[in-house]
Amino acid sequence: MNWLKFLKRRKEEEKENLKKAQREEEEERRRIEEERKERQRKSDTPMVKHSPPVSSDVKIWKPRPTDVEKVFPSDEIIVSKTDTRGNITYGNQLFSKMAGFTQDEFLHQPHNIIRHPDMPKLIFQALWDTITQGKEINAYVKNLSKDGSYYWVFANVTPSFDKDGNIIGYYSVRRKPNPLGLQIIEPFYHQLKKAEAVGGTHESLKLLVGLLESKKLSYDELIYRLQYNAL
Ligand SMILES: Cc1cc2nc3c(=O)[nH]c(=O)nc-3n(C[C@H](O)[C@H](O)[C@H](O)COP(=O)(O)O)c2cc1C
Repeated sequence: MNWLKFLKRRKEEEKENLKKAQREEEEERRRIEEERKERQRKSDTPMVKHSPPVSSDVKIWKPRPTDVEKVFPSDEIIVSKTDTRGNITYGNQLFSKMAGFTQDEFLHQPHNIIRHPDMPKLIFQALWDTITQGKEINAYVKNLSKDGSYYWVFANVTPSFDKDGNIIGYYSVRRKPNPLGLQIIEPFYHQLKKAEAVGGTHESLKLLVGLLESKKLSYDELIYRLQYNAL
């Protein structure tokens, strides 16, 4: 009798253990499936958080950059305008197409929504230092599209003034960059980025000054010559 009871209890225990193992297996499967879905979500919309926008509390999400290049169509120009803080107030059709944002998406957003992480900080520092002084600047800029692809531009940025001479915003026109200029600029920007990783723009500025001194050119002259094949 005791023996039978013992066997019955063992059977019940075995049943319980089996159920527990099935439950654990089910949980494990669900966890693996959740992880798979999470990975899938990340690769479908590979977004990383970007720095907060200047003008609003809207969160800006940036794509993970890819190696896909969008080529700038020859003979066309990309135009955008900003307010004095760099928030976009206008973008032409090509701006929308290359950046991959609709007008509703890009209007009133800070211009850094298309900032590419390969761009050295120094170039934007030079841009803002120059335009806030009421002067224009030319620069080679690598931009990031909404889908993670990139496109290089040769940008001219100018301040816009009211009738009293106050700056009321900025205006940028980009042309197709000279590929020969890019052959020099791209590796040079890479060096600037490396220097910034070590010592910030203090270090990258030294490199830029070194290059300009070795060529005996100002920044404006160097960029102009790179674009117009005169180096
Ligand atoms: C008129 C105008 C046009 C600009 N165009 C670009 C651009 O095409 N790409 C870009 O990355 N930054 C552009 N900027 C500079 C951005 O405002 C910003 O300084 C830059 O993206 C660096 O962003 P960060 O300060 O968040 O690093 C532009 C600024 C102005 C005023």
